[in-house]
Amino acid sequence: MAIIDCRNVIKIHKQGNLEVVALQGLDFTMQEGEFISVVGKSGAGKSTLLRILAGLEMPSAGKVEVAGVDLTDATGTVLTKHYRRDVGFLWQDYTRNLLPYLTVMQNIELPMLLSGVGRRRRRARARALLEATGLENHAFNRLNKMSGGEQQRLAMCVALAMGPKLLLADEPTGELDTETSLEIYELLRRMAHEAGLSVLVVTHDVALATRSDRVIRLADGQVAAPTVVHHEILRVALDGTLELPSDLRVEAGIGEHVRAEVTEEGILLRPETELNGEVPDVD
Ligand SMILES: Nc1ncnc2c1ncn2[C@@H]1O[C@H](COP(=O)(O)OP(=O)(O)O)[C@@H](O)[C@H]1O
Ligand SMILES: [Mg+2]
Repeated sequence: MAIIDCRNVIKIHKQGNLEVVALQGLDFTMQEGEFISVVGKSGAGKSTLLRILAGLEMPSAGKVEVAGVDLTDATGTVLTKHYRRDVGFLWQDYTRNLLPYLTVMQNIELPMLLSGVGRRRRRARARALLEATGLENHAFNRLNKMSGGEQQRLAMCVALAMGPKLLLADEPTGELDTETSLEIYELLRRMAHEAGLSVLVVTHDVALATRSDRVIRLADGQVAAPTVVHHEILRVALDGTLELPSDLRVEAGIGEHVRAEVTEEGILLRPETELNGEVPDVD
């Protein structure tokens, strides 16, 4: 089932007399449980797309359906409920999800407290999230005791507190070093494949992007089709391993899985999108 369905989405930002077209006829579908990275140059429309999917902004035209909710002509109430319950949002600046004067546990409980979830359920949910993210030893710490990577993991717990189906993340590793970024990506991947969460992450790191199931590239407010024909000679190792360079994978939308098809011309590698939970173990 599709968790995201975007058809011909147009978004025009108005700034005084100036109009900026951020999305121009974007088509995009994402299946439940997929882990997709979005790459593209600055100004390509990545953040605009995420804000629309989260219900933080309305599209100017086109159709947007997320988690079964039609966001096209939604009222403020529908959008607010969508943002609070259906999606979780991670920002590059993880402190946006966090309150420094609360403990780790209180931070995770807060969204549930505001939605009237009882104390026992709040505690149980918070504990499960802390365990899933490897933060169980930090439950009663305050944020200043935690590293950037730990704070982003905590932000993930807060974003997932209400049990959303979709996690949207706008450059969540932008302020983290390479190793920590990889850890966050691995965690997102686990959440997608083990907990059935759908994860859409914007990143400028092309190598990191290929660690997801599928990569889409935005250019000029549209999902870019591969434009450049690449001819590259790749070496096949003795054990049959073929290494696909990141730029080639991103251009072809290939994440962690490909479908290989023998054609008359040779072997065709396509991004595999229909995982249906049967994810091969790649580690
Ligand atoms: N609130 C806004 N008001 C006016 N223009 C905006 C606004 N948000 C984004 N834009 C413009 O829309 C385009 C896409 O921006 P954005 O979605 O932030 O791209 P990205 O995240 O890929 O860098 C850019 O030209 C940007 O300047
Ligand atoms: Mg952006």
